[in-house]
Amino acid sequence: MLRKMVLFLALSGLLHSELTGVLDDCFCDVESIDIFNNLKIYPRIRKLTERDYFRYYRVNLKRPCPFWPDDGHCSIKDCHVEPCPESKVPVGIKSGNYNKYSQAANTMSDVVECQQAKELGAINSTLSNQSKEAFADWARHDDAQDHFCELDDETSPDAEYVDLLLNPERYTGYKGPSAWRVWNSIYEENCFKPRSVYRPLNPLAPSRGDDDGEGFYTWLEGLCLEKRVFYRLISGLHSSINIHLCAEYLLDEGWGRSVWGPNVQEFRQRFDMAETKGEGTRRLKNLYFLYLIELRALYKVAPYFERAIVNLYTGNAQEDGETKDLLLHIFNEIKAFPMHFDEKSMFAGHKLEAKTLKEEFRLHFKNISRIMDCVGCSKCRLWGKLQTQGLGTALKILFSEKEIKNLPEHSPSKGFQLTRQEIVALMNGFGRLSTSIYQLHHFRQLWKEKR
Ligand SMILES: *[C@@H]1O[C@H](CO)[C@@H](O)[C@H](O)[C@H]1NC(C)=O
Ligand SMILES: *[C@@H]1O[C@H](CO)[C@@H](O)[C@H](O)[C@H]1NC(C)=O
Ligand SMILES: *[C@@H]1O[C@H](CO)[C@@H](O)[C@H](O)[C@H]1NC(C)=O
Repeated sequence: MLRKMVLFLALSGLLHSELTGVLDDCFCDVESIDIFNNLKIYPRIRKLTERDYFRYYRVNLKRPCPFWPDDGHCSIKDCHVEPCPESKVPVGIKSGNYNKYSQAANTMSDVVECQQAKELGAINSTLSNQSKEAFADWARHDDAQDHFCELDDETSPDAEYVDLLLNPERYTGYKGPSAWRVWNSIYEENCFKPRSVYRPLNPLAPSRGDDDGEGFYTWLEGLCLEKRVFYRLISGLHSSINIHLCAEYLLDEGWGRSVWGPNVQEFRQRFDMAETKGEGTRRLKNLYFLYLIELRALYKVAPYFERAIVNLYTGNAQEDGETKDLLLHIFNEIKAFPMHFDEKSMFAGHKLEAKTLKEEFRLHFKNISRIMDCVGCSKCRLWGKLQTQGLGTALKILFSEKEIKNLPEHSPSKGFQLTRQEIVALMNGFGRLSTSIYQLHHFRQLWKEKR
């Protein structure tokens, strides 16, 4: 089944060619996923993530980057070009005879961009006093639970609650060398790259012109299934993040008001078949792949939440009951979805080898979540951490099938556990993927209208 799923990933273009129904011999197609997501999941997960339990995420945004010298919390300063002192600017330029290709003009626009990136990337840490009081109560409740998995972020005194609704994931202007370096180190140093491969793994890396990417995919085929899966997950996450940035782009900034909306041009640059030499379609396929993996994890973890003893505690019994109902409703929809990914063939090889691989997988993933501490823009860091933690939690679930099956009915602190943090990241992370698929549909329509 997994191999079939990989075949599914070989479906034809998502944007240009019309989507065809059933894919190869696999019981899954993009249309059904779209319909399922856009009608059943997206509206509900949106509601869910607005509820108090899910909207506040505790995160440490102050951890230093462990891999390269900290550029200060503003790696964005990479884009900061020292402006010329006024006296050095040639008179001709100063007096308005402005050549926009001149050195000075470029410098000015860099500074403006940098300023913008700093503002848009900042975190709005506004929290009502009422929420702050509630958090102390939440923490007491959470501490009383017995969790087996400790996350550095949660226990750090630097960790703070952030209101996700006040800090939507959208275009921040964060780009340039710092952003490049983060993705580059993820692809280059953390994606199981065999030593014999010299081609850059980062799909956004400039290729040598004549290279259409096929060689890369031949290489990918040579990797064992699990390692390919790992690459695809990362690529899917990258695509999803890019879709959000394109869908919530800063379109206009006049009269003190910012207007956000879809930027088709930006979207095409990243995903159009022709403009990306086919790479865009692959990126989108990886997004669907990631979606199916996380969907599968939710399917598997449903029994954990279905027990009456698990409640989503905020201290308000009525609200908590409603939140849980909504969550269970989403799980029921997921259970009814017929095209689940089958992870059985993953790590199914020789026992010892499988164990090593699983551990390698875990370490690589853990490393990637640490790389998130190197993201220069706070808001990007927040969403990067949340989404990697969400995926990490999904993987943890997929690897804990037996433990979930053997959960004791009446003893909440025994066996498989998820922390509040993991639950919030899992559902918000999946909510982001669901949003991407929804937005993709919207982009396809905009596209049709334009043609
Ligand atoms: C943060 O959000 C609050 C509530 O929407 C708003 O009143 C405030 O102006 C925001 N602060 C900043 C710095 O954007
Ligand atoms: C919130 O609490 C702080 C410190 O306890 C206090 O100074 C402030 O006035 C309170 N704000 C509101 C809106 O109640
Ligand atoms: C973790 O990531 C860093 C930065 O990309 C890299 O240098 C290092 O080799 C990675 N470590 C492991 C164990 O993968």
